[in-house]
Amino acid sequence: MTTAKVPPVRLARAVERFRYVLDRLHQRSAPPSAVMLEKILGAWIAQGITVAADLKVADALADGPLSIDDLARRVGANPDALARLMRALIGEGVFAQRRDGRYALNALGATLRTDGPMSVAGMARMVGHPSHREHWSQLLDAIRTGEATMPKLRGMPGFEYLVANPELGEIFNHAMTNLSEAAVVPLTAAYDFTPFGTVVDVGGGHGRFLSAILEATPSARGVLYDLPQVVEGAPELLRRHGVADRVEIAGGSFFDSVPAGGDAYVAKNVIHDWPDDQALTILRNVRAAADPGAVLLLAEFVIPDHHRAFIGNWTDMEMLMATAARERTEAEYRKLYEEAGFQLTRVVPTVAPISLIEGRAV
Ligand SMILES: C[S@@+](CC[C@H](N)C(=O)[O-])C[C@H]1O[C@@H](n2cnc3c(N)ncnc32)[C@H](O)[C@@H]1O
Repeated sequence: MTTAKVPPVRLARAVERFRYVLDRLHQRSAPPSAVMLEKILGAWIAQGITVAADLKVADALADGPLSIDDLARRVGANPDALARLMRALIGEGVFAQRRDGRYALNALGATLRTDGPMSVAGMARMVGHPSHREHWSQLLDAIRTGEATMPKLRGMPGFEYLVANPELGEIFNHAMTNLSEAAVVPLTAAYDFTPFGTVVDVGGGHGRFLSAILEATPSARGVLYDLPQVVEGAPELLRRHGVADRVEIAGGSFFDSVPAGGDAYVAKNVIHDWPDDQALTILRNVRAAADPGAVLLLAEFVIPDHHRAFIGNWTDMEMLMATAARERTEAEYRKLYEEAGFQLTRVVPTVAPISLIEGRAV
């Protein structure tokens, strides 16, 4: 098991419930229209955060506090306009201002450092990118029709559009890396991978999840499987995490086949990208590759049965617009597993919103 420090899952959920109660108290303490306006104006706040990430304000402040003139010079902004943006962000708890007037990083501001630990700068840059905003402007059509809107808007499927627009593709990949970094420690802390000799990561991207599993399981070997043009970029990451000599890289499409021989098949944030029929094709290909008894572990946002805020309810909208796909409940995963020849054995929660859905090939 990994030695990474994460709080116990029960504590994390208790904090989540407490925050929910506080949030509801806050909502009742103000007129409903004021509470609603706060939510609506969240779009402006988010765009301000995106601009701070685009300008790399947090990187500029990483070596210490700066006056507005120095900060504006470093990031290439108009001093008066930047001071007004900083005032607005500080009001939201993002960045701080010293008594001497200089601006400084605080905990929230530091999350916008490009390569800082647990950076979310990539997500800030992706969500506020004009192209992504345009994509979300199609939500009305998606809700009216139940259809994917991104192919209509772009004239091609989402993954192809990213390949055709490398600058956007890079922003997207950076955002996905942010999400992966935030998820891999909770995932490897929540599950014991040591029983597995070979772990196959299906749709594993550059292998961040697989490398975390192998770091936590020094005796295991891995197979990284993704599209050929994607796995091309994997060796550098695998070397950086010291697991390259234990990973076999395989390029191909999971709609055709999946590498055989895994004791465990993992797929993180893959099945949610696809509607049921294509999700089933992928899972059936995994089943065809797996021996009976092999373990399937999907890492996904499982839609909970409570009504508290849950990030997966929003990534569900993103999936609908991108590919007419969806986030699923445990019951929906159980059905998919059964139809693909797996038995869902349990859902393992983590301190993060992501869970591991464990099943066995029958
Ligand atoms: C949302 S990303 C998740 C990546 C990785 N598992 C992670 O969590 O960071 C979905 C992955 O599926 C891969 N993918 C898409 N279509 C594929 C296909 N036909 N065959 C194999 N992989 C595919 C993409 O290249 C991408 O790496």
